[in-house]
Amino acid sequence: MITDINRLVDMERGLIDRRVYVDRDVYALELERVFARAWCYLAHETQIPNPGDFVSAYIGEDPVLVVRDSRGKIGAFLNTCRHRGMRVCRADEGNAAAFTCTYHGWTYGNDGKLVGVPGYKEYYYEELDMEQWGLVPVAQVDSYRGLIFGTFDLEAPSLQEYLGDFAFYLDIAFDRREGGVEIIGGVHKWIMPSNWKFASDNFAGDGYHVPVTHISAVKAGFAGENRRLRPQNISNGFAAAAGYGHGYAVFTTQLDVERFANDPEYLNYMKEVRGEQEERLGESRTKVAVGNGNIFPNMSLFSGSEGNRTIRVWHPRGPDKIETWSWVFVDKKAPQFMKDFTRLATERQQAGPSSAFEQDDGENWGMCTESSKGVMARNYPLNYQIGLGRERVSEEYPGSLGPAPSEHNQRALYKMWADLMTGDSWDEIRRQRDGH
Ligand code: FES
Ligand SMILES: [Fe+2]
Repeated sequence: MITDINRLVDMERGLIDRRVYVDRDVYALELERVFARAWCYLAHETQIPNPGDFVSAYIGEDPVLVVRDSRGKIGAFLNTCRHRGMRVCRADEGNAAAFTCTYHGWTYGNDGKLVGVPGYKEYYYEELDMEQWGLVPVAQVDSYRGLIFGTFDLEAPSLQEYLGDFAFYLDIAFDRREGGVEIIGGVHKWIMPSNWKFASDNFAGDGYHVPVTHISAVKAGFAGENRRLRPQNISNGFAAAAGYGHGYAVFTTQLDVERFANDPEYLNYMKEVRGEQEERLGESRTKVAVGNGNIFPNMSLFSGSEGNRTIRVWHPRGPDKIETWSWVFVDKKAPQFMKDFTRLATERQQAGPSSAFEQDDGENWGMCTESSKGVMARNYPLNYQIGLGRERVSEEYPGSLGPAPSEHNQRALYKMWADLMTGDSWDEIRRQRDGH
């Protein structure tokens, strides 16, 4: 039995015990202490624009139904019938005034209330207290720039506090144009034989792997002329860690433009975007691009280039398995040719199981997980030391900054993980995070 999480995660020295990725007790504990307490990403508001619209989601291994009720309010509920536990909604998305369980027919309104029970008079003698048997609500649901999050912990800090300074960076991806972004197309889902943390920590800030892992995809032309992927350029920028364990790779070069150097339509569009972005967010947030990022625990983003804009959640399915759900997002205001371009290019690079970069990454994470199971291998901790001791703060950019590439953001992620795993209350977690 794991007793001392802090011995497994030593962020002062940048060392992580491999049991963190493969041990069943650690996994059972993190479902309770991490997933049932953190704010987890559920859906984007543009997926449920109308009353009655719903999408399915997960928090950890718990299925969740995200619904805009008939009065327009967004709620989220455990997607499990209170009678015998059947999933009350089996569709990924749709519109419904009510959800009728397909087992015995209990019916719930789109606000979660139990509104119909077959045999209520004849079999229950009207003695069932229907008010007590509605769908179990997610304790707090809130959204930021259209991104809907939920937490099962009533005591968790507000979403605003949870995101903290990370919102500054999120705006670059989600609020650079009037109207924000929308999700286009459906969801890609696939299973990978990896611990969820390998995926989250990669997206949180692993620029180091790019010129090695993805070299074949780059050489084959899947990234166009994207200069970020040249080995000498992964150091153009910094790692920004902010809020409760979130991280973004920030690039001080724009990422895509040269790919379309000869396309006037694209160049005009980007000029328009930069102008609006500067007006809305200021110069500091226009001269940089936010690349790969992770909102703790398991929502990852790529947002730095017009050809790669994706949100994904690594749903844990045991210590050595994830079910990835991935979407493409575009600026609502973008012209159709740009939306089409982003959708197709993101599919090619990152958004699905057959995307070139995604395949490269999944291969690594699966083998990192597999090899950590060895009784000998697990005696040797993993190394997260790049940039250790080189953290800084800046007047211009909030959060704690580290060099690029570095493992600064990954250390922040695992620190938060350990704080949640060991902290009994959010006050304690807050104190640990702030270092007292
Ligand atoms: S399990 Fe849903 S009505 Fe019986
Ligand atoms: Fe990658």
